[in-house]
Amino acid sequence: KVNGIEFAVADLSLAESGRHQMRLAEQEMPGLMATRREFAEAQPLKGARVAGSLHMTVQTAVLIETLVALGADVRWVSCNVFSTQDEAAAAVVVGPDGTPEEPTGTPVFAWKGETLEDYWWCTDQLFQFADGLGPNMVVDDGGDATMLVHKGVEFEAAGAVPAPTDDDDADEYKIVLATLARSLAEDAGRFTRIAAAIKGVTEETTNGVKRLYKLAADGTLLFPAINVNDSVTKSKFDNKYGIRHSLVDGLNRGTDVMIAGKLAVICGYGDVGKGAAESLRGQGARVVVTEIDPICALQASMEGLDVVALEDVVAKGDIFITTTGNLDIIMAADMARMKHNAIVGNVGHFDNEIDMAGLAKVPGIKKVEIKPQVHEWRFPDGHSVIVLSEGRLMNLGNATGHPSFVMSNSFTNQTMAQIELFTKQGEYDRQVYVLPKHLDEKVARLHLDALGVKLTKLTPKQAEYIGVEVEGPFKTDQYRY
Ligand code: NAI
Repeated sequence: KVNGIEFAVADLSLAESGRHQMRLAEQEMPGLMATRREFAEAQPLKGARVAGSLHMTVQTAVLIETLVALGADVRWVSCNVFSTQDEAAAAVVVGPDGTPEEPTGTPVFAWKGETLEDYWWCTDQLFQFADGLGPNMVVDDGGDATMLVHKGVEFEAAGAVPAPTDDDDADEYKIVLATLARSLAEDAGRFTRIAAAIKGVTEETTNGVKRLYKLAADGTLLFPAINVNDSVTKSKFDNKYGIRHSLVDGLNRGTDVMIAGKLAVICGYGDVGKGAAESLRGQGARVVVTEIDPICALQASMEGLDVVALEDVVAKGDIFITTTGNLDIIMAADMARMKHNAIVGNVGHFDNEIDMAGLAKVPGIKKVEIKPQVHEWRFPDGHSVIVLSEGRLMNLGNATGHPSFVMSNSFTNQTMAQIELFTKQGEYDRQVYVLPKHLDEKVARLHLDALGVKLTKLTPKQAEYIGVEVEGPFKTDQYRY
């Protein structure tokens, strides 16, 4: 704690560099900055205590300062052990007017290269606002903060934390259990009180949204949720065009291997998979896709991509990227069959797409660190595979994630969703909602001028003919874009 601000970041002296990068990012985030201006006076988030668990990047720094500008009291952590940009974390703590010696910004608990113990310690810090208070709003990415609250409440009701099992895949869960056991020992009603105070969560990504819908279906969701991911201006932009930019960035910074001419295998052809395929095709790779869903498989085929089974290309591929949000996609036995120095990376939210635990257990295997977040795994037969970011999101671990402009779309949705849930308490049930279409269209509209886009305006006659209002919304909720 310095100057009354709690934090745990790598190095506050990086703040100046972070601030310069934020300045450039602000210019590239027209929607988010317009939202900041629109609501600065009204202060709709006054009284909100926002706990944010979302990659602590430069773009997120601009989001944090937007929430603060709208009146919120904020604490922040990253939702991934490798995704923090240390200079952004430092800049947020120091604040626009502070110095590293006298920070005046926002509490952040995040650094690049956390251990899993660090990660869950940081996540626990989210819930410790000043004066013994917890948050009353959550911004989540992947659902870890929401999960901690729900498990905390569950175990407090049971009066005990279950004993960890011996299942190796549950290593991280054991740390969650230990975190909650400590909390329970100190204060057996802590998470129950925290959950009761939370007015809502706004969730950023596909995997987190899946967790929320499951809680809602089970009837165990403890507060209302807005699914930000499924705003059209989020998933059809960030997941696709964001990854189109940051996947190739991560590959280049991690390996600098020539992508042109290589055989690239993309597992999953959803929104992220579509962006990944374009990213590598744009570099001249020969791209093939694996899918389980006939619709997405047909889409890939119509784009001229071969849709294959992994086992048929595993020995031929040069670059393997998982984008499924599912588990057990590339197993140790697959990597055992790969070409020498094949590159394996994941951009799905969790690290269980690639069987890292199985890889570490291959008899005689050796792990060589080429540089942080780039490892050569040498099999006893002499061939190696290069694994990026230890199987975690490589576009954030090996690069800096999506660029500002696309994140402006995502974070304008986030900000609107926070305002919506915080200012309309009582209007939302313990269910999962998406933002209304007119707000989705507004997010897009806020980004048009910067790109020199000139919209055609409907005439009243045309609007009536297609059954919409002149000012929109222009599509039904069923429209798929
Ligand atoms: P999505 O649901 O649109 O796409 C996933 C696709 O994987 C689906 O088409 C599904 O049929 C397919 N799939 C599932 N199991 C499979 C299997 N065993 N083999 C082959 N294909 C399989 O989801 P979306 O939005 O594309 O997100 C994917 C993941 O990426 C999620 O975990 C999401 O949270 C994450 N994400 C990561 C970002 C990043 O910056 N790295 C940005 C946005 C999302």
